Amino acid sequence: MSTLAGSPFVIDPDAPGRIAWNVLVSAAAFISVIGIPLVLAFNLGGNPLVAAGDILINFIFVTDIICCFHTAYAEGHYLVRDSGRIRRRYLRTWFLPDLLSALPLFLLSGTAFVILNRAFRFLRLLRLLKVFVLFRTINHFRRTKVSSNLLRMVLMVFWLLLIAHLLSCGFILVGGIAAGLGPGMTYLLAFYWTVTTMSTVGYGDITPDKTNPGQILFTILAQITGVGMYGFVIGNIASVLSNIDISKTLFMERMEKIYSFLRYRRISSGVVKRVDNYYNYLWESRRGHEEAGILADLPQSIRLQIAQELHADIIAKVPLFAGATPSLIRDIVLHLEPTVFTPGDFIIQQGDMGEEMYFINRGSVEVLNADEKAVYTTLNEGTFFGEIALLLKTPRTATVRARSYCDLYALWKSSFDRILTRHPVFAQSIQELAEKRKAELAAGKSPVLPC
Ligand code: CMP
Repeated sequence: MSTLAGSPFVIDPDAPGRIAWNVLVSAAAFISVIGIPLVLAFNLGGNPLVAAGDILINFIFVTDIICCFHTAYAEGHYLVRDSGRIRRRYLRTWFLPDLLSALPLFLLSGTAFVILNRAFRFLRLLRLLKVFVLFRTINHFRRTKVSSNLLRMVLMVFWLLLIAHLLSCGFILVGGIAAGLGPGMTYLLAFYWTVTTMSTVGYGDITPDKTNPGQILFTILAQITGVGMYGFVIGNIASVLSNIDISKTLFMERMEKIYSFLRYRRISSGVVKRVDNYYNYLWESRRGHEEAGILADLPQSIRLQIAQELHADIIAKVPLFAGATPSLIRDIVLHLEPTVFTPGDFIIQQGDMGEEMYFINRGSVEVLNADEKAVYTTLNEGTFFGEIALLLKTPRTATVRARSYCDLYALWKSSFDRILTRHPVFAQSIQELAEKRKAELAAGKSPVLPC
């Protein structure tokens, strides 16, 4: 991933230390979402262990806010390291929930005001907002480490259990379970009530006290939540099973295959990261579709029609094609082969023999000398390169490297030669350009390109 100019003291989101910290914060969040409802249900606020844990978790959450203010973030394929932008983005997104979950509420405990003391008990629930940090951490592992369908199922079960846990604790809190039982049995009965209510089975053996509006209202809330969750679970299972989004499923399958191979062969994490970035780009730029493969099945006439529409943008972008005859355009579009290069890839090496030339549809490349130290020029969208070796039948005159993700169209030598023979006017203009570039290279100056 490329980096946008930035400030010092900015943490890389993929640095091992940052990831380890995320895991720690997630563990603290997990303990909070499980523990706080129990503390409320069984009134454990006064327990010294609970109080100490509360302070420690508070400390972790506050430190996390400071870290988030200094952690770079990915934007497209760039890592934004500018402090101002990081700050603004964090303030706009996760800052508020993070702040609310990190309020040092333990400072309020033991206050002389009874009202505050009561409110304090329930304000603890604000900590639950930190549960979203789990998403951020899970997202990090999403693409590389586990299958997305498996993760989806695990997440669904997690949410289900979490909501059931919250409702069980709530039911205990409103006095839904008769007093006099041990905490384990009380919780078990409350959980049993929640599951039967949420799954809409509702045996009716544990019911709210009909004289207690709090319990009745809570039961209604649980039933409504249950219906929602029921829909959510059924919907999720259906979509996991039927894989509604077929192109995504196919794309994911391809990715899974590669990732499982990389895991099996213990390929280094740097390379895995590159593969990950590449797939991200493929997904974002073309939703995983590979034109060449898809169109290969079709007859030539239909392929031509599709290719003309598909490549209309590159034809419009390249000034060299301005005024080209329809037959030239037809010949060219049919032979363009889309290809992607990732930042830093060497597309052409000086001295090699040339087999293809490229048109830049998206991204930019730099033309370098043999030792890759001097940059002759940078070529952007709508330009082309690699034509000199094909035209003049010489080795490559320079090295070309991708500066960003590049969507290029390759034109192979055999098609190139055929097109030149069939379209002499086009051959003439590209020949002139190649001569000019070559002369400029020989003169050692950076030319201003005509296209
Ligand atoms: P080729 O020699 O086949 O491979 C390297 C390519 O870099 C070359 O074709 C040109 O397309 C391109 N190139 C070389 N020198 C320059 C230059 N000075 N300005 C722009 N493009 C260049």
